[in-house]
Amino acid sequence: MADEKTVLVFGATGQQGGAVAKALLAEGWLVRALVRDPAGTKAKALATAGIDLCPGDFSDHASIAAAMSDVHGVFSVQPSSGQGPVHGITDEQELRYGKAIADLSAAYGVRHLVYTSVAAAGKGVTGLGHFDMKTGIEEHVRSLGIRSTIVRPVTFMEILMLPGMGLDHGTYSFLMRPDQAMQFIAVDDIGRIVATIFSGPDRFAGRTIEIAGDTVTGRGLQDAFSRAAGRTITYNRFPDSLLAQNPLLGRLAELVDDGRCAGAVDIPALREEFGKLLSLEQWLSGAGQPLFKSALEASGGTVALR
Ligand SMILES: NC(=O)c1ccc[n+]([C@@H]2O[C@H](COP(=O)([O-])OP(=O)(O)OC[C@H]3O[C@@H](n4cnc5c(N)ncnc54)[C@H](OP(=O)(O)O)[C@@H]3O)[C@@H](O)[C@H]2O)c1
Repeated sequence: MADEKTVLVFGATGQQGGAVAKALLAEGWLVRALVRDPAGTKAKALATAGIDLCPGDFSDHASIAAAMSDVHGVFSVQPSSGQGPVHGITDEQELRYGKAIADLSAAYGVRHLVYTSVAAAGKGVTGLGHFDMKTGIEEHVRSLGIRSTIVRPVTFMEILMLPGMGLDHGTYSFLMRPDQAMQFIAVDDIGRIVATIFSGPDRFAGRTIEIAGDTVTGRGLQDAFSRAAGRTITYNRFPDSLLAQNPLLGRLAELVDDGRCAGAVDIPALREEFGKLLSLEQWLSGAGQPLFKSALEASGGTVALR
């Protein structure tokens, strides 16, 4: 299906880009990755897997243009904005980088651009830069008139394993109330979905597809984590005092309450189009197992959701 065509993957040393690169390779595509540090451990592992590395940076348009030569497809992802200069990029940078990749894809005749956004995008202003910038990038991608597809992942299962949420002391907290449902997706499923999209450019052109693999309540997290840990892990929503002190967490909880951050994907319909998608339990006993084990053993830490 891939027929010796090349897809340029941004962010291949990260979660989504890494999963997309792996899934594309498995489907027989030639994969090129723009990386900041070709000598780094993650980049070297990509090269060993057969990925062609192009040194570059989102801020260096010449490096992006060079990497785009003769590519069929581009997968565009940017790191989350708004985490400050040490951990991330600014809102303005996220918007600028996402638009520039789309502009250069148009200028260099890329046949299919896939941009990964977020489930909360396109649903009105949220007040959170890393959601609202994606709405702006989506609009820009659509305005260019090139063949493109936008995926909007819900919250990653991987994010549930970040430090500070209590797995290590048996009392887990997250954004939803115990009886409230949120949708999640395993990063590997994002990779497989995007690879399927590249294999059907005409079928998926012009579409914006919200993607999720499972719907879980707070109590569902409690049950799944307790079963996987072999001991009781209780669940509570983040305390009101924390939501009041931490503007990001407070706003995320509001967006779960109003539905925008909870996800509203028809998962059976998505499965019909993209095949099997991992439930949280399946992820916990597979790719998520090492992350779950280290989260159980970690001690302390502060909540650092992105
Ligand atoms: N977490 C969630 O639940 C969730 C849900 C939906 C959407 N999202 C969105 O997903 C996005 C993050 O995706 P991810 O988790 O796959 O990211 P990630 O794992 O943080 O990876 C970011 C990638 O971008 C690369 N990168 C960073 N700055 C760069 C630059 N200046 N030039 C070139 N490459 C650069 C990094 O390369 P290096 O290896 O060189 O650092 C890395 O490969 C965010 O926009 C977030 O809002 C997250």
